[in-house]
Amino acid sequence: MMNLLPQAMQVMANAHAPYSKFKVGAVLVDENGKQHAGCNFENSSYGATICAERNAIGAMVAAGARKFTEIVVVTDTPNGCPPCGICRQVLAEFAQDPNKTKVHVANTKGIVKSFTIAQLLPEAFDSSFLKP
Ligand code: THU
Repeated sequence: MMNLLPQAMQVMANAHAPYSKFKVGAVLVDENGKQHAGCNFENSSYGATICAERNAIGAMVAAGARKFTEIVVVTDTPNGCPPCGICRQVLAEFAQDPNKTKVHVANTKGIVKSFTIAQLLPEAFDSSFLKP
């Protein structure tokens, strides 16, 4: 496991969270070993908010990569921030291997809990269910 926590804390500081005051940072490693970061950014129309995890995935996709091997998600609370349901679905689409790709939930002191994508989203909907 790479130590992605310092970078995740840096990007967390850039979060735009004036409504919830809940700042989240995420850093992932793509299939080529390159890191991509994201923070949450909220909107006065609350539903338009984007989570840190999806912002990091967007940065990876924009850089031309399509798969990630691990992600650290950090927030400054004792229990950290396990990815929301929408983020689990988005993370599953871009995970290199749902049974191996790890999600590390962290606070500012370290990793609180780690999961595989398959653990976070069992029986996932994916492209194999789309009409041929
Ligand atoms: N948030 C994330 O960035 N990631 C998650 O997995 C859960 C929630 C953000 C969205 C919103 O800006 C704030 O945390 C409170 O829900």
